[in-house]
Amino acid sequence: MALELRSLLQPTGELEISLVDVPTPAPTADEVVVRVEAAPINPSDLGLLLAAADPASFKASGSADRPVVTAAVHERVLPAMKARLGESLPVGNEGAGVVIKAGTSPAAQALLGKTVSMIGGAMYTQERVIRADQCMVLPDDVTAAEGASWFVNPMTALAMTETMKREGHKALVHTAAASNLGQMLNKICLKDGIALVNIVRKPEQAALLRGIGAKHVVDSSTPTFMEDLTAALVETGATLAFDAIGGGKLAGQILGAMETAINRTATEYSRYGSAVHKQVYVYGGLDRSPIEVARNVGMAWGIGGWLLFPFLQKIGAADVERLKQRVVSELKTTFASQYTQVVSLAGALTLDAIGVYGKAATGEKYLINPSK
Ligand SMILES: NC(=O)c1ccc[n+]([C@@H]2O[C@H](COP(=O)([O-])OP(=O)(O)OC[C@H]3O[C@@H](n4cnc5c(N)ncnc54)[C@H](OP(=O)(O)O)[C@@H]3O)[C@@H](O)[C@H]2O)c1
Repeated sequence: MALELRSLLQPTGELEISLVDVPTPAPTADEVVVRVEAAPINPSDLGLLLAAADPASFKASGSADRPVVTAAVHERVLPAMKARLGESLPVGNEGAGVVIKAGTSPAAQALLGKTVSMIGGAMYTQERVIRADQCMVLPDDVTAAEGASWFVNPMTALAMTETMKREGHKALVHTAAASNLGQMLNKICLKDGIALVNIVRKPEQAALLRGIGAKHVVDSSTPTFMEDLTAALVETGATLAFDAIGGGKLAGQILGAMETAINRTATEYSRYGSAVHKQVYVYGGLDRSPIEVARNVGMAWGIGGWLLFPFLQKIGAADVERLKQRVVSELKTTFASQYTQVVSLAGALTLDAIGVYGKAATGEKYLINPSK
């Protein structure tokens, strides 16, 4: 038996997050059982975990060992969640731990006793049964906590630079840029000589990024934001942006500033605007409001969604392996994640904890240690 965190959204809109005992099945020949020791709470986990519930409606019950959290999800959100209604769902995209049992195949046996990192969901659990080929053995000097966030943010940050090269752009723009992922992206770009324009919304976030060597940082809360952004775009020639925010005016402002920057150096006037394609990929949903685009962006532009897994499928196994190997070799440097708190499964279900990690604020990432 192992303790597992579950999120259950009822058709009535009541959300219940709780801990349940689940039997650990014996591994099949190609599977292993991992004692999970670390799993991050990333923004990409929050949608499943908290189901966009009204933050003011959270209530705690149960005991300290077996907390139960309930909350209300607005009825306008329910249609988009139809497929999960009434289902008690496990949570946690990625994690790491020690292999405590292995199936009979050589690949599974080879992992016994090893500390591995995993991707595949249901990581907020004490024991995860998983295929051996979904595990990656961590180097001896890397702990489960250091290796738990090895996939989602590192691979996404690397994939941004890959997308830039494949789609013929020469520099990048990134929003919510002081995020954990944004800091990794800065380190990659500095190392690889890629110009990166960071957009943040607070002075302390700008200072944080400058502290790790970022050259172009613009603050959307300042009155000179559009001028500063345009100047950075003239200097870098960036025509591709990855936008974690998604809602409001920012994506359109970026395209508008790119168009202004391109026209500033144009030698000829075109009544349709520049012919250079400008692209914003919305890869997060930190703001759920509609995206607004003013028509100062010319005619060669696009806004689209971007997700890591379809990108990895598109580039194929050999290139995915190349990116993974880079992440593993730089886990303690470029791709190191910082956590403000390490909590148990029960500790993740206090209202105080949810109030902090639920905001996805800069430098407030939580790590769950289900074996704690
Ligand atoms: N598409 C994919 O495949 C994929 C893969 C991995 C990650 N992601 C996305 O990557 C983003 C970053 O993840 P992370 O783990 O690095 O995040 P994180 O460390 O938790 O940081 C989140 C950042 O977003 C900012 N933020 C939150 N709400 C905001 C809003 N409404 N407007 C502007 N900024 C806001 C925070 O700044 P404040 O302190 O000012 O709130 C903070 O700097 C997330 O959106 C995540 O969903 C997407």
